[in-house]
Amino acid sequence: HAADAHRTDLMTITRFVLNEQSKYPESRGDFTILLNHIVLGCKFVCSSVNKAGLAKLIGLAGEINIQGEEQKKLDVLSNEVFIKALVSSGRTCILVSEEDEDAIIVEPSKRGRYCVVFDPLDGSSNIDCGVSIGTIFGIYMVKDDHEPTLADVLQPGKQMVAAGYCMYGSSCTLVLSTGKGVNGFTLDPSLGEFILTHPDIRIPKKGKIYSVNEGNAKNWDGPTAKYVENCKFPKDGSPSKSLRYIGSMVADVHRTILYGGTFMYPADKKSPSGKVRVLYEVFPMSFLMENAGGQAFTGKQRALDLVPTKIHDRSPIFLGSYDDIEEIKALYAAEG
Ligand code: AHG
Ligand code: MN
Ligand code: MN
Ligand code: MN
Repeated sequence: HAADAHRTDLMTITRFVLNEQSKYPESRGDFTILLNHIVLGCKFVCSSVNKAGLAKLIGLAGEINIQGEEQKKLDVLSNEVFIKALVSSGRTCILVSEEDEDAIIVEPSKRGRYCVVFDPLDGSSNIDCGVSIGTIFGIYMVKDDHEPTLADVLQPGKQMVAAGYCMYGSSCTLVLSTGKGVNGFTLDPSLGEFILTHPDIRIPKKGKIYSVNEGNAKNWDGPTAKYVENCKFPKDGSPSKSLRYIGSMVADVHRTILYGGTFMYPADKKSPSGKVRVLYEVFPMSFLMENAGGQAFTGKQRALDLVPTKIHDRSPIFLGSYDDIEEIKALYAAEG
């Protein structure tokens, strides 16, 4: 069949979300409009990433961001594109970006009810060598039209109404959850549309892969060290696990959701809160992980229960297959 070789029912991300939202009588299409602006940002970043070498987008921008990191040209460009797309959607009131010290309060004439927290370009260290990078976003909704404040975004991750990421890899894939399951869409470059290719993604209950920066091992706490030791030298006769670590959270989490296993950025003696940031890295990925049937744990509690006190707070994170995270939780519980 021609229809087998070529997809003929083109379920675009816009159609998919419109269908989903039409189940809510109060929905006025605002979420779909917001998402369309996020999608536009992702398409722009995707095209910039693909021609980074040609368009002189490789290398440093010359500034240090609030995280103490040297910004790459693509960090700065992606940040600008997302801010402009989000503000011009007319559906946002407050934005938090990894690259900006302060939250952005949207001017009154352009305000809507959504708060968006985002990492415009994740995996910056992988840009210049052409390895997969991504964009991460989380969305909260304010209940009334009060003057937006930081309190609107300093909310536990379980209050998010949606979260997702876009991976700029061998193909461009957008993975989204609005709180009922997880769906993946692949950009068809000739159509310029994200098409549903991964409906209702479920993470395997148990995995054969672990993912962590083992270069930090000398500073790990007991349970992290014990878990990784068990991955390599299992006590119960099960086969040892494979190590995969890209160093782009989006790509490492994407593989984890599809293949199963664990992704960790644990605490260590030098960074007691780990490295990844709560609002725009830990929360969106934990939201997706739980919606795909996995778990996300900080070493102390369910990650989505964390209450951030500052917009750039960090937290240790263990996320992945349900059974594998149970094992990590048991090691922390045994430590007391
Ligand atoms: P970003 O590029 O947005 O600053 O995020 C980098 C993060 C994350 O993508 C990745 O998982 C982690 O840093 C890798 O850190 P290490 O190089 O310390 O392993
Ligand atoms: Mn960074
Ligand atoms: Mn990041
Ligand atoms: Mn980033």
